[in-house]
Amino acid sequence: MTALAPGSQTSGPVLSRRALLTGAAGAGAVAALGPWRRAGAQPRFSANPFTLGVASGHPLPDGVVLWTRLAPDPLHGGGMSPDPVVLDWDVAADERFQRTVQTGRARAVAAEAHSVHVEVRGLEPDRWYWYRFRAGNEVSATGRTRTAPAPGASPARLRFAFASCQHYEQGYFTAYRHMVADDLDLVVHLGDYIYESSWGRDPVRRHDAPEPITLEDYRARLALYKSDPDLQAAHAACPWLVTWDDHEVDNDYADDRSEELDPREWFLARRAAAYQAYYEHMPLRRGAVPLGPHARIFGRVGYGDLAEFHVLDDRQYRSHQVCPRPGRGGSNVVEDCAARLDPRLTLLGDAQERWLMAGLDRSRARWNVLAQQTLMAQLDRKVGPGQSFWTDGWDGYPAARRRLLDFLAQRKPANPLVIGGDVHSFWVADLKPDFDDPRSAAVATEFVGTSITSQLARTQAEQDAIVAENPHIKYGNLTRRGYVRMELDRGRARAELRGLDSVTERAAGVRTVAVFVVEDGRPGAQRA
Ligand SMILES: [Fe+2]
Repeated sequence: MTALAPGSQTSGPVLSRRALLTGAAGAGAVAALGPWRRAGAQPRFSANPFTLGVASGHPLPDGVVLWTRLAPDPLHGGGMSPDPVVLDWDVAADERFQRTVQTGRARAVAAEAHSVHVEVRGLEPDRWYWYRFRAGNEVSATGRTRTAPAPGASPARLRFAFASCQHYEQGYFTAYRHMVADDLDLVVHLGDYIYESSWGRDPVRRHDAPEPITLEDYRARLALYKSDPDLQAAHAACPWLVTWDDHEVDNDYADDRSEELDPREWFLARRAAAYQAYYEHMPLRRGAVPLGPHARIFGRVGYGDLAEFHVLDDRQYRSHQVCPRPGRGGSNVVEDCAARLDPRLTLLGDAQERWLMAGLDRSRARWNVLAQQTLMAQLDRKVGPGQSFWTDGWDGYPAARRRLLDFLAQRKPANPLVIGGDVHSFWVADLKPDFDDPRSAAVATEFVGTSITSQLARTQAEQDAIVAENPHIKYGNLTRRGYVRMELDRGRARAELRGLDSVTERAAGVRTVAVFVVEDGRPGAQRA
């Protein structure tokens, strides 16, 4: 992470120290050196360039990342000339900017689609701030953000929501309208922020483009999704933590292998384009700048001694899925697949797995939130005798899951809460080292949110039959799209599963379909 010194007024573009030292900078980074040396032009825009809104992310006790992108014509390449543009940014203690506490300048360059990621430091902990950007005669929307509590602080509570799986064609992003009304401290996005392909029943709107392959394609897809007003409002309402799943690149990809078994170098070039566009559109730290097909987005954010978020990336470093369909990569549902039990399989990769365990060991937080992509609990999908498993989730990597759950059992970090998405349905589960042994004790609690819009082809009756096969699963509901709202305090975690009445009407209502609590020191969810 190339953090700015507190009080620094300028956010420089693009070249990480590592890229400079190793000479590994890509063509985009080299192109950005020019504008870095030149004075920025005073821009004139034919239309307001802040069409994609503003966002903030990765809150620290003294700072936060502020994001925007200049794009007067967002769906047609952005509409910017290739020249760099200097923006001004303001951070204020009030919504009307009467008490501005910091201002600065940032350079937006074509190599990053004229996005900016300003790492503001020197703010006070645990308080709200407002921010905006200015360029030429244009001013962005105002965003609101919040710093994290100081490391030694003992905040009384934290309210956040988590979201995943927002297929643009399959519904409006109404869930975010309700999150804004929830007045949250934080939103956590667990992946499938975009979808690369068109599918599903009864679309409410269209991608109007084929699958993205190039950087320009992915930029257009991200811009299309970010044009949704409810999504923009949620980004402007509070800071976000983000990680990705497969559809930010391609369905079911695993590290360097695509579902279609594309040539490796071709697929890695596609992955590099997808990662770059994702970075350009998210409030990520500059430490997450992609270097070709590599980008480190896993990371950790603390909220005093109350909570620590361990944000994971289960796509980039994973082993290839075992026992695929003939001639294919990607997932499968398998009954007899000895390779699935190979202890060498990894979902997080060795380095991230060690990083996670070391961080859990060090954590002094009351709640340790593992923000990751998919259902961690074992899910036997075969009703009746025998078992079948879906290989793209943790069930495809049972030895890796066992390593993590054994670690939790032995090292006992405080109150592990696993949150996930991906499977387009609500799940609540006890996580235990041996799911097939009724005497194996729960060591963590899992909540999986349903999708913001993405569909699932299964009936609730089928879901109920599957839940009955898996006694560690307390709840499974696929009937509604929505999100999960969580409140952590010093005695318990409370999860409200929020289900939308519809995703085909922007103004549809939401209802709480179930509430579960986890008591401090007692892994496992209880119905409230
Ligand atoms: Fe999804």
